[in-house]
Amino acid sequence: NEHLSRGLPLTGKKVMITAGPTYEAIDPVRFIGNHSSGLMGFELAKAAANLGADVLLVSGPSHLSISHIAVKMVQVVSAEEMYRAVHGYYDAMDIVICAAAVADYRPKTVAEQKIKKKETELSLELVKNKDILKSLGEQKGEQFLVGFALETENEVENAFGKLKNKNLDAIVLNSLNDSGAGFQMATNKISFLDKNLKIKTFDLKTKAEVALDIWNEIIGRIHA
Ligand code: CTP
Ligand code: CA
Repeated sequence: NEHLSRGLPLTGKKVMITAGPTYEAIDPVRFIGNHSSGLMGFELAKAAANLGADVLLVSGPSHLSISHIAVKMVQVVSAEEMYRAVHGYYDAMDIVICAAAVADYRPKTVAEQKIKKKETELSLELVKNKDILKSLGEQKGEQFLVGFALETENEVENAFGKLKNKNLDAIVLNSLNDSGAGFQMATNKISFLDKNLKIKTFDLKTKAEVALDIWNEIIGRIHA
């Protein structure tokens, strides 16, 4: 096995990937979530393992599963749980990709009992979740840190803004404007932006193919 993997580009590298949505509880039976399937993160994990890496996949609720000897999966539910899991492993990592669709807000309080409907309106007070990726950027050592950006306007400008603000090495811009890309789809259209302001735009492809494109870009930069 060692002989087989010695020549692969990610052999010896420890990779952590966040994937999926987070669920933020409202009461025992309800939550705030989003439509992320987790597929992009799972494909990134699988591809990394096939390229020789030791992979830790930290995933929010997802129906997907992965069975690869080199992928360990940690399941979380909320953004807070994802934050704690990710920070527990960060120091040991060489490359980290945050592909999760983390909820930006959570209900300020979680009702202990199921909230009963009333005759009037109901308001939920939301508080901000910690930005996991930004916190990793602030604590970055030797890690190569990659984020995702989902934008609907001023895409490139906003993505570069996130790259800089979160102290990233690169960011993957998801284009939702192109039909056939994004949440709940098997395909995706991305651009890969790096901290030297280089941009590479790819065609609409399956998420498995997109994962390989992303790894090609990362590998070219960690070996440069
Ligand atoms: N992210 C994170 N923790 C959060 C919010 C976002 O780790 N609490 C990460 C995502 O995994 C992604 C990147 O930050 O890699 C960008 O997420 P996105 O939602 O596009 O950007 P935000 O910074 O949350 O800004 P906004 O939603 O306002 O565009
Ligand atoms: Ca967000």
